[in-house]
Amino acid sequence: MSPPRRVGALLVAAGSGERLGAGQPKALVCLGGRPLVVHALERLRAGGITDVVVAAPAAQLAAVRALAGDAVVVAGGATRSASVRAALAALPAGVDVVLVHDAARALAPASLVTRVLAALDGGALAVVPGLAPADTLKQVDDEGRVTATVDRLHVRAVQTPQGFTRAVLERAHAGEPEATDDAALVEALGVPVVVVVGDHEAAKITVARDLAIAELLLRTEPA
Ligand code: CTP
Ligand code: MG
Repeated sequence: MSPPRRVGALLVAAGSGERLGAGQPKALVCLGGRPLVVHALERLRAGGITDVVVAAPAAQLAAVRALAGDAVVVAGGATRSASVRAALAALPAGVDVVLVHDAARALAPASLVTRVLAALDGGALAVVPGLAPADTLKQVDDEGRVTATVDRLHVRAVQTPQGFTRAVLERAHAGEPEATDDAALVEALGVPVVVVVGDHEAAKITVARDLAIAELLLRTEPA
């Protein structure tokens, strides 16, 4: 029997959680009694990820290692992109497909992980989960005056986990560029990025209200 296919994930968890204001790094904040980073790890593994590298706050390496099971834990960087690079540098050899995921999207379900992986299996080089916005979108100028109504049909709010071939992700991060997500760096290479349907449970926990909503979602999840 052939060994199970190895699929990697870089879980970025090194942010300070300024906007949540919980008095500790966001990844260690509890949801349903367990830290966000633990929820995220659990769902990545349930979705078929075999090799996880967590980027953690430098001051919390021991605390995150104690929570992370067999995941490799490294110190993150000053920005999200730098944290992705720190984790990517620690990804074991032999892992050629990799997801990048925000610990702040702690409830992104295993089914979303498998959907992203399926698109990569189908030959995509870069995959992002995205949802059509529910609101009408306006373009505005610097004074806040509406200049246009955006064609909503062609807009997606994108989430993580985002999936890439390792080669593409490494190329995208060469030269240490900065962006708010990894797909933007891949787009800059001219590599096509495919969108799969996202999931509302993958919403990012940014402010206290998001954490309260996540608590409610967790309570209604099937055991
Ligand atoms: N992140 C990271 N390293 C950084 C900054 C962010 O690994 N230097 C991670 C966060 O831990 C989070 C994800 O990137 O999982 C998305 O970032 P965000 O939601 O902005 O989290 P924080 O930066 O922690 O929050 P804030 O901006 O409110 O301080
Ligand atoms: Mg941030």
